[in-house]
Amino acid sequence: MRGFLVAGNWKMNGRNAVNEQLAGEIIAGMPHSDSVELLICPPYPYLASMAAKVDGTALALGAQNLSEFESGAHTGEIAPGMLLDVGCKYVIVGHSERRAMYGESNECVARKFAAASKAGLQPILCVGETLEDREAGRTEKVIESQLGAVLELVGIETFATAVLAYEPVWAIGTGKTASPDQAQDVHKHIRSILAAQDDNIASQVRILYGGSVNGSNADGLFAMTDIDGGLIGGASLKSADFLAIAAAAASQG
Ligand code: PGA
Repeated sequence: MRGFLVAGNWKMNGRNAVNEQLAGEIIAGMPHSDSVELLICPPYPYLASMAAKVDGTALALGAQNLSEFESGAHTGEIAPGMLLDVGCKYVIVGHSERRAMYGESNECVARKFAAASKAGLQPILCVGETLEDREAGRTEKVIESQLGAVLELVGIETFATAVLAYEPVWAIGTGKTASPDQAQDVHKHIRSILAAQDDNIASQVRILYGGSVNGSNADGLFAMTDIDGGLIGGASLKSADFLAIAAAAASQG
């Protein structure tokens, strides 16, 4: 059984006091379920304090980005080993905001994925099409090239310790969610791309859906065969909303 992962991507939000409260409320209210893992991904400066906060609890910690390099003259960058050092288990790789605003190509994302895995972090690889791509019937092609670049660099074996997130760009922060059927179609396609190389790994890898997930639509999404949780932006900043999504996952288990 794959189990669910509900991941909060805090993006560039929060300050010490707010984070303390949010994480505290999540820890206090999280479901006690073997089939649901909860994760928060705060901004870099707060990783250490949040690591202390989640220590001894079942709440996992992750980062939102990382450098493809291990150390050295890379001013302003954060190495994979540093994330591991401060207590991260996961790292988001290739979020559409990084691809669109910070010029991360499929190849760059693949190198970051490789660096994360090599360091012992579990990468959460984000893929997804723009509205233009969808309307032009290019959704599958876009996903194939995003995923293909990573598969080519690291090989299928590395996906045994990775997570995927299907995040249609048109659904992120827009209030427009993909319907459960629309999302399921793409999730199934992603799993089939992996299955073409290794059936076992494909059936074990968790594929999250992201894009305007909230407490009301999570149930329908999580009920789909190939949807194994969510990557949550806006709704991860309010404990009640995030916990409602976690509860929706727990009710499937
Ligand atoms: P959203 O963001 O839930 O606010 O749409 C999701 C994401 O960007 O990961």
